[in-house]
Amino acid sequence: MEWRFKNEDKIIEIGKNFCVAPPWHNTDKIKITLASGKSFGTGVHETTVSCIEIMETLDLKGKSVLDIGIGSGILSIVASKLGANRIVGFDIEKFAIEECIKNASLSNTKNIECFVSNTPKSIKGQFDVVLANIFEDIIISMKDDIARLTKTGGYALFSGVIIEENFMVQRVFERLGFKLLKNVFLNDYTTLLFQKGD
Ligand SMILES: C[S@@+](CC[C@H](N)C(=O)[O-])C[C@H]1O[C@@H](n2cnc3c(N)ncnc32)[C@H](O)[C@@H]1O
Repeated sequence: MEWRFKNEDKIIEIGKNFCVAPPWHNTDKIKITLASGKSFGTGVHETTVSCIEIMETLDLKGKSVLDIGIGSGILSIVASKLGANRIVGFDIEKFAIEECIKNASLSNTKNIECFVSNTPKSIKGQFDVVLANIFEDIIISMKDDIARLTKTGGYALFSGVIIEENFMVQRVFERLGFKLLKNVFLNDYTTLLFQKGD
């Protein structure tokens, strides 16, 4: 089968080290290759870019990462390229999971486990980093599971939060013992990096 790729005619640079490009483009950057598809996460949207920029500031070597609303798999692929050793993600859309598996393979990553689900309830254990680039109402509906699944001292990184709801998300997670470390305001959205305290 002949695949088509996202952004066939150009390289999209993201953050300090990454780019999204088709297989035939040579680049000094760390390359992510995404097949053309329906899933969200091409590397252009500001909420994805903002997450990747913050992920680059975290030391992910040997760390575990949970990716809620994995979409194209772009954040999980970045986590893998940054050295994370266990990456679990899920999405409500079956096509997203199919595309994520394809994109992980195109991007030469082998440690992303992903499945169709609309909730993290079945997930066991704890993660060093929990990612969720998703609307704030969904983040809030999952707040207790996010708290349960984040290790003490670990990070929760949220993007896609509508700007008017930024402080509500901040308050909800502070009540759960998280401390806000970074807050990036984009056009209509915000990105929040929390660290879970004792
Ligand atoms: C904004 S996209 C983020 C995609 C990718 N993680 C990124 O950062 O570019 C949000 C994703 O969450 C998924 N989603 C929406 N509601 C969900 C739910 N309740 N559980 C799991 N995934 C959900 C959507 O299908 C979509 O793929």
